[in-house]
Amino acid sequence: MHITVIGVGHVGLVSAAAFAKWGHQVVGYDDDASKIARMQAGEAWFYEPGLDELMAEGVEAARLSFTGDPDEALAEAEVVFVCVGTPPLPGGGPNLSYVEAVGRSVVEHARRDLLLVEKSTVPANTGKRLEQVIDREAERLGTAHRIEVASNPEFLKEGAAVQDTLHPDRVVYGTSSDWSRDLLRQVYAPLVAEDELPVVETDVPTAELIKHASNAFLATRISFINAVSQICDRVGADVRVVAEGMGHDVRIGHRFLQAGLGYGGSCFPKDVDAFAHLASQVGYDFGLLDEVREINVGQRRAVLDKLEGELWHLSGKTIAVLGAAFKPGTDDLRESPAVHLANDLADAGADVRVHDPVALGNLAEEQPHLGQAMTVEEALADAHAVVVATDWPEYVDITPEMYRDRLAYPIVIDARNIHDPEKMLAAGLHYYAMGRQSIIR
Ligand SMILES: NC(=O)c1ccc[n+]([C@@H]2O[C@H](COP(=O)([O-])OP(=O)(O)OC[C@H]3O[C@@H](n4cnc5c(N)ncnc54)[C@H](O)[C@@H]3O)[C@@H](O)[C@H]2O)c1
Repeated sequence: MHITVIGVGHVGLVSAAAFAKWGHQVVGYDDDASKIARMQAGEAWFYEPGLDELMAEGVEAARLSFTGDPDEALAEAEVVFVCVGTPPLPGGGPNLSYVEAVGRSVVEHARRDLLLVEKSTVPANTGKRLEQVIDREAERLGTAHRIEVASNPEFLKEGAAVQDTLHPDRVVYGTSSDWSRDLLRQVYAPLVAEDELPVVETDVPTAELIKHASNAFLATRISFINAVSQICDRVGADVRVVAEGMGHDVRIGHRFLQAGLGYGGSCFPKDVDAFAHLASQVGYDFGLLDEVREINVGQRRAVLDKLEGELWHLSGKTIAVLGAAFKPGTDDLRESPAVHLANDLADAGADVRVHDPVALGNLAEEQPHLGQAMTVEEALADAHAVVVATDWPEYVDITPEMYRDRLAYPIVIDARNIHDPEKMLAAGLHYYAMGRQSIIR
């Protein structure tokens, strides 16, 4: 099939490369010329394990190309995936203007009947608005191609995006005709045949809602266990063991029950906001989601409390922050709890030194006011305390002796619960975890 992907970012680029792997003829289009230039040179413009190789495979097979020219991008397109950003607006709703712009542009540049598929995360009933935009624009321009809208939400996780896209848990698409459903069946046929994975075929608003409901639910799980971690600290229980005990119940399961610094990234915070916003627009008060957000922010407050408990005033203190990315395996800093924490510390007057294995380039660009350390050793040197803010695997290997010998004061706040408390305490560190104070006492 001839597929065009509009918006070749974290979702669009991985999807485009995967479609090419499945045998489709794929063109990636982006309105950012500098990103297109990098991808034409064979390089992803962001860090994602395995992505350069997957891209190279598609390019070498002559099934994957990139262009900044919309006419070229849509010359042969049968199915067009919209993968542009839907960032949050100040009122909580998502900014859908990029999606709308794509709708207008596709009408102008389409050369045949095509299916326009929302892969961007959008609120329920965005498809209807998009169809309205398309119809109006077609009337204005006097074009007669059939352009239908479908929804095919994306569930990949940054840091494991290639694996998730090639081996997803499920495929969901919502369509409004047999024609569009059959097109999406053809797009995913090679994947479904290979993996026998569940496919949920539904209508457009239901598919749109599945994505928001999924992310809101996952964020709720994280906030739930974080709230439990607060109780654990107060009653002398260990949240890791509580989560393990809960997770053996097959109705609960073990995943997404790690207490820590809270969720972040480009999706959960904005999708929880967008879902709550949609609920209030349609007259339902989804107060649970307000609590989920409050608990998430509260985890950062808990870290600051632990630091202030030890250091009294943070002003003038040097604090090492290990990790900037919102999770391991990515250099994405969007809504990263680690970056929020570093800024909270800087606002409190601390001299912050941030280390990250891959995200320091982005940090220098996006948060130039924050201090940086190129190595863990440099971050720790004579700092008054350290906070482990992202659970990069390399931080797990930091020994208690490394902390003790390099820090000015032996204070370690393990905001991701990656260390063994007993070893840390045995080395004489003032060690704090999240919801594991029983061990510490
Ligand atoms: N990042 C994730 O983990 C993830 C997972 C699932 C779903 N999503 C959703 O997918 C969507 C995209 O997210 P992302 O992380 O890939 O964003 P991103 O910022 O990495 O990529 C978006 C791309 O769209 C381009 N763009 C914006 N407007 C455009 C236009 N009018 N024409 C052409 N290109 C345009 C940008 O230049 C950018 O390259 C969002 O709705 C997001 O919520 C993201």
